[in-house]
Amino acid sequence: MNIRRAGIADLATIMEVEVACFDEERYSRDIVLFVLTDEEFATFLAEDGRAVGAVSVHVKGDDAHLVSIGVVPDHRCRGVGSALMGTAEREAVSRGARRMTLQVSILNVPAMNLYLHRGYRTKYLLEGYYGRGKDAFLMERAL
Ligand SMILES: CC(C)(COP(=O)(O)OP(=O)(O)OC[C@H]1O[C@@H](n2cnc3c(N)ncnc32)[C@H](O)[C@@H]1OP(=O)(O)O)[C@@H](O)C(=O)NCCC(=O)NCCS
Repeated sequence: MNIRRAGIADLATIMEVEVACFDEERYSRDIVLFVLTDEEFATFLAEDGRAVGAVSVHVKGDDAHLVSIGVVPDHRCRGVGSALMGTAEREAVSRGARRMTLQVSILNVPAMNLYLHRGYRTKYLLEGYYGRGKDAFLMERAL
């Protein structure tokens, strides 16, 4: 498995990963395009013969924010998500960030475990963040 920086030429591939990983809450093509072109963001693709995962991070000053992470179903539980998180965190540090924040649905046990194992801690509850009755945790970790 290899992880590399993604660019605008990877838009279709990133969308395929998004579709494989998320239901209705996934980002639109326009948002992914913006993330791939705006300099405050960085996106990375994990490849294993084909694209198997992607992560995007936003960095501004001391603050980094995990925008999105997804691993295609048949490659989960093999360390790809953790490797992508490590890549996003190193990118954030290299741009001067001192902390990373993220939101996660309170029902998303795999993602929450991934973040807890990487040292993220819950700061507070975001009521209705994903829609009515769909709460999220705001998690944070010092980098
Ligand atoms: C969350 C996600 C990115 C994890 O990717 P992954 O490649 O399976 O994660 P890893 O194999 O690196 O696992 C890292 C840790 O995550 C946790 N984890 C991963 N899958 C899990 C599962 N199904 N159940 C419980 N914990 C799980 C474990 O703690 C694991 O550590 P361990 O192997 O030491 O036990 C993946 O499940 C995914 O793409 N989900 C759909 C998209 C999504 O929800 N993204 C996050 C939105 S906030």
